[in-house]
Amino acid sequence: MNHLYGVIGDPIAHSMSPVMHQAALEDSGLEGTYMKFHVTPDALPQAIGGIRALGIRGVNITVPHKVAVMELLDRIDPLAESIGAVNTIVNDNGVLTGYNTDGPGYVEGLQKALVGDVTDKSVLMLGAGGAAKAIFYSLASIGVTHIDIANRTETRAADMIAACPFAISSSFIPMDEAGAAVSRYDIIIQTTSIGMSPDVGHSPLAFDSVKEGSLFSDIIYNPLETAIMKRARELGAQTQNGLEMFVHQGALAFEKWTGITPDTETMKKIVLKQLG
Ligand code: ATR
Repeated sequence: MNHLYGVIGDPIAHSMSPVMHQAALEDSGLEGTYMKFHVTPDALPQAIGGIRALGIRGVNITVPHKVAVMELLDRIDPLAESIGAVNTIVNDNGVLTGYNTDGPGYVEGLQKALVGDVTDKSVLMLGAGGAAKAIFYSLASIGVTHIDIANRTETRAADMIAACPFAISSSFIPMDEAGAAVSRYDIIIQTTSIGMSPDVGHSPLAFDSVKEGSLFSDIIYNPLETAIMKRARELGAQTQNGLEMFVHQGALAFEKWTGITPDTETMKKIVLKQLG
């Protein structure tokens, strides 16, 4: 079956989803075309209608539409509902279902880097925005029981913790006090936009030590190593950038559309090549 797929966003020119999904389609022996669609917020309802009318099988939703798209869909997966954002739409004969694969994709990538069970680990998350919420709720949904949140704005972190639908023990740490706390945690997850290109070289916090055997994970992949990741690596932490999250959110979406689990190494290679 020669299906059509795509990604909707504003801006969309630099999205790497098309090359990544096209490679996954070819690698899986499937016919199909994955396109990018530049859709402004005022045109989102027509664009969603277009998915139904044109029979587009699967769509990724990116900035700034992940929240606004929800009310335009027929069904929302419970995890996406709790996160309050959708990044993947599956079209079953005109019935559109929204999923969030960002959080579960992050968890899959994290599990690849970890020795042992993630649910035993103590976690510190930097940031309380949209990406942080997807990751926080996804980790809580698989049984992680301790995730502290450091953020600039306390209310945002407090709201995220309070609305979590899964059992979790979580304290707020002001961002400017988090540097001293870093060495207490097994896993540190950096979700703020600080350090992302073109903000290269900036870091959300300063710290002098990391816990032995700890993992520092940054969801940024441009640059491939942020300033804070470099610091954590130099202090002895294992580090992981955001490429695994990006690839795995795409792979989970691909699976929902096609029923096939794509080769994430092929997907990662093509994104790395694209990043130059
Ligand atoms: P995303 O969807 O990528 O997570 P977002 O929802 O805008 O984006 O969240 C951005 C995160 O980065 C938030 O945690 C934000 O902190 P606040 O809640 O205090 O706004 C954090 N962030 C962005 N710029 C920041 C800055 N200059 N200093 C500190 N935190 C910053």
